[in-house]
Formats: sequence, C-alpha cells, structure tokens
Amino acid sequence: MNILNLFGVLAFVAPWICNGECYKILGVFHFPGISHNILSTKLMKRLLAAGHDVTMITTLPMKDVPKGGTYREILIEGSEEYFQHMMATNNLFEVDKSGLISMLITMTNSFQDLLKLTFNNSKVQQLINSNEMFDAVIVEQFASDPLKIFAHIYGCPLIILNSIGPNSVVNNLVGNPSPISYAGHLFIGDFSKDLSLINRAKNLFFHISEYLVFTFFMLPHDDALMHEFFPYAPPLSELYNNVSLILLNSHTSLYPALPLVPNMVEIGGYFIDPSKKLPKDLQEFLDNSPEGVIYFSLGSNLKSKDLPSEQKQWILSVLGNLKEKVLWKFEEDLPGKPKNVFIKKWLPQQDVLAHPNIKLFITHGGLLSTTETIYHGVPILAIPVFGDQSANADRAVSSGYGLKLKYNTPEFTKENFEESLNELLHNPKYRENAKFRQKLYHDRPEEPMKTAIYWIEYTIRHRGAPHLTVAGAKLPWYKYFMVDVFVVILLGLLVVYKTGKWAVKKLFGRNRNQISINKKTN
Ligand SMILES: *[C@@H]1O[C@H](CO)[C@@H](O)[C@H](O)[C@H]1NC(C)=O
Ligand SMILES: *[C@@H]1O[C@H](CO)[C@@H](O)[C@H](O)[C@H]1NC(C)=O
Repeated sequence: MNILNLFGVLAFVAPWICNGECYKILGVFHFPGISHNILSTKLMKRLLAAGHDVTMITTLPMKDVPKGGTYREILIEGSEEYFQHMMATNNLFEVDKSGLISMLITMTNSFQDLLKLTFNNSKVQQLINSNEMFDAVIVEQFASDPLKIFAHIYGCPLIILNSIGPNSVVNNLVGNPSPISYAGHLFIGDFSKDLSLINRAKNLFFHISEYLVFTFFMLPHDDALMHEFFPYAPPLSELYNNVSLILLNSHTSLYPALPLVPNMVEIGGYFIDPSKKLPKDLQEFLDNSPEGVIYFSLGSNLKSKDLPSEQKQWILSVLGNLKEKVLWKFEEDLPGKPKNVFIKKWLPQQDVLAHPNIKLFITHGGLLSTTETIYHGVPILAIPVFGDQSANADRAVSSGYGLKLKYNTPEFTKENFEESLNELLHNPKYRENAKFRQKLYHDRPEEPMKTAIYWIEYTIRHRGAPHLTVAGAKLPWYKYFMVDVFVVILLGLLVVYKTGKWAVKKLFGRNRNQISINKKTN
C-alpha cells in the first residue's frame, strides 16, 4: 500500500479529523415520531463524525453514537409517550374525516404541549441558564417556531432542517419566490401538469387560508407560549424569519422544478444509507421468487392491522389472485391469508426495496418511503391517508412512476385496487419512469449528506452568511408584492384623471362661455 492509499484509508476510518475548525452545534428536535427522529439523528451523527461537538435536544436516545466530536444528549422525557398516546387515541385512518377546524385546534393544542414539555424540561432549563455558547443552532421546521428562541439566546446562526421540499412555510422564512400560479401548496402538491384556472384558484385559496391561520391563530399562540417561558424575548414575529440556512429534504429528481434562493440547499435523500445485506430468511425468500414480489407497508405511524376488517378482506382477496408474491409489513397475525401473502411485523425497507425481484411497492406515500423508492427505482401504488402523503403521491403520478388511490374516498374500492395493481404490474412504463427518476436521483456532484455538512460549516464559517439572504426576506407581503407601489400608481392615475377632467371642464366651459360672449358682442 503506498502512502497516498494509506491517507485515503485514514480519511475513511477517521472522518472526524476536522478539516478546519470544530464547532459547537446545538440541535433542537422536539417533535417525536420515528421518521422525524430518523431525519434529525442521521444529520447529527454525521456532524459528530465530522468532529463537531454536538448537543442534541431530542425525544429518543441516539443509538450507536459515532466516534468523533463529543456528544451530549438532552432527552425530553414524556414527549414520546405523549405522542404515542395521541397516535393511539386518534385512529389515523380517521383523521381526514374529522372537520378541518377541529383538526386544526386539536393539532395546535398537541403541538403546544410538545413545546411546553421541551421548554419546561429541567435539563433544557439548565442549559439555557448556563452561560454556554454555541456556534449554530439547528431546528427542524415542524410546529416549532418558538424554538427559534435558542438562536436568539446564543446570538448565533439559525439553521433549519426541513423534512420536505420548499413550501409556503419555509419560503416565507427566507423570502423564496414561490409563484402561486405554479408552485403548489403543501396540501396540493404537484399540479404543474395542469395549470388550469380552477387549479390555480384552488392553490390561491390554500395559500390565503394558510396565511390567515398562521397570522391570526398560530403565530399569536406560539408567541404567547414563548413569552410564558421567556418573558423578555422579542416578539416571535422578529425571530421567526431570522434564518441563515434552510436544508431541504428534496431534490429535482423527486420534486417539480422550483426556484430556490441561495440560502436554501437541497439535500434530498441524505438520510439513506447504502443498502445492507438482508437477513438470511428474507434473502432466500426474495431470491426464490422469480415471479416477482410486491412489498406492502403503510409506514411506521399507520398500522396495517388497524384497517377495518372488511377492507382487509377485500385487499387480501385481490392480492390472493396475483401470480406475484406479496411481502406485507403487518403488525399482528393474519389468519386465513392467501398462500402468496407473507407477513412480518417489521422489515428492513431499504434493503428489501434494493432486491431486484421487488416489482412494486404499495405505500402510504410518506416522504421517506417515496424517496427510498426512487433511490431503488421501484414503482408505487400510493394509498395516502393524511398530511403530505397525498401531495407525495401526486408527484409520483405526474412523474409517471406510480398510481394513487386516496384512502377514505369513494375511489378506494376493491375494483380500483385490483385495476391499479394490474396496470402497474403489466404496463412497463411505470418501471421505466421509476428507473429514469432513479438515474436522476443518483446523478449529483456529491452525496447529499456531504452537501449538508458543507453548507452547515459554511454558514458557521461566515457567521450566518448574511450575504446569501435576499433582501425580500424581511419585507412584509404588501411590499414584497409591490402592492404599495401599485396603490401609489393607481392613486397617481386617479389624480391625473380627475385633474384632467376638471381642467377640461374648466377650459372648455370657459371657451364655450367666451364663444357665446364673443357671439353676443358681434
Ligand atoms: C413545568 O414543570 C413543573 C414541574 O416541574 C410544573 O409544576 C409546571 O406546571 C410545568 N409548567 C408548564 C407550563 O408545563
Ligand atoms: C439574528 O441572527 C443573527 C445571526 O445570524 C444574530 O446575530 C442576531 O442576534 C439574531 N437576531 C435576533 C433578534 O435574535
């Protein structure tokens, strides 16, 4: 081994040797839930491995802490239990049925309870009252605006980790242009293929509703909560968009093309590790299924076992008629299941999707799942239930690598389920489009995780990198959209018109009088 190779190996086994400086970074990830935890933990682990000192306020203990910088964990007790209880008492398959307003109020109250658990935690209080300093604070943007107080306390740059792509919430923080004519609202997703009058009007309606709910409901509530714990803090409206960098878990292979300001950086799929070996039984099962396998999982929050039994019956009868095998993540016994259906309580999703015999993925359309399916080039049948799932499914449909059957709607029937499966399994275009997206996904100058670490360090190195923030970020909406200028122009035109009219009247009025006087004197 020559000396250069030795250095290469050293760099590989000892990635924590900091290139330049090692920084003190505080990550505040107060929102429980497995997918949120995966996203935050993966990023913080990599920062540790890069040699930085990481303090993480989190809801689940970090497993397998990597070698590198020092790690300190502040666990918010009771938060995960609170969340599990909330999930257990609300059957998620029913959430979409309850009215929008009642859902909003329930959600706001639960979100506020989670924030209170965080601020009121004795170790968090200790940290705040110590005179420790940090070089940057990283917060996940998810019902978390009051947490931006941390960056204010330490007077350091605030970095946002956004678990999804650009949307009205984060666009607002950094003044990202997001034309309502084609940039779909979070709840609409991709409508770039059909920019009809009705779709654009619908998009406008969603944006205005969100603006009103945020300005007159969410923001005042969050502001009051923050001041309950930090009476001397400035108004939340001053803190909430003092943001240095936004890391977006999206990529042009996964999202329609959209504008991004320089301090928004795409790191879509950064959380995906290279595939590992499958457990022996799964490997053998998949290897011995040349007819193909359909992988079926509704994610970590929704449980397939909670589906109404009547639905379970017709799903099983459709699956039983297929020549392919089905591997279903199902959380309890399933008596009377057809011969070709195999169930397991838990499955290593990534490694299963990597197997060449996987033909199709039946999914709830969560962002982690839809990203992983592109990573491996597998088409999907999406059965979205709530949140951003429907928008993710829309993107799969418009990119041609999937079909969507929305849960809790008249379209979710046995006939449609059967028809969709047959179409997806027999029309090769879905697989071709999935493979095309897979190629786009992997065609980048560097791994997305490397991009993430680079931009975090860059932001710290340049003290928040204010040169990347567009001037529009701090403008109120009426200035941003030039409404004040248009009003002045309109008023100006009105004045010109009125004066003109008045002058014409005076002039011609006088002329006419003069003419008649002249006539008389003649
Ligand atoms: C904070 O915790 C204390 C107990 O440690 C409790 O008495 C108090 O009610 C809590 N406050 C809030 C706002 O949750
Ligand atoms: C805004 O962020 C900068 C760092 O990027 C920080 O120095 C400043 O104190 C923050 N402003 C407020 C009001 O917290």
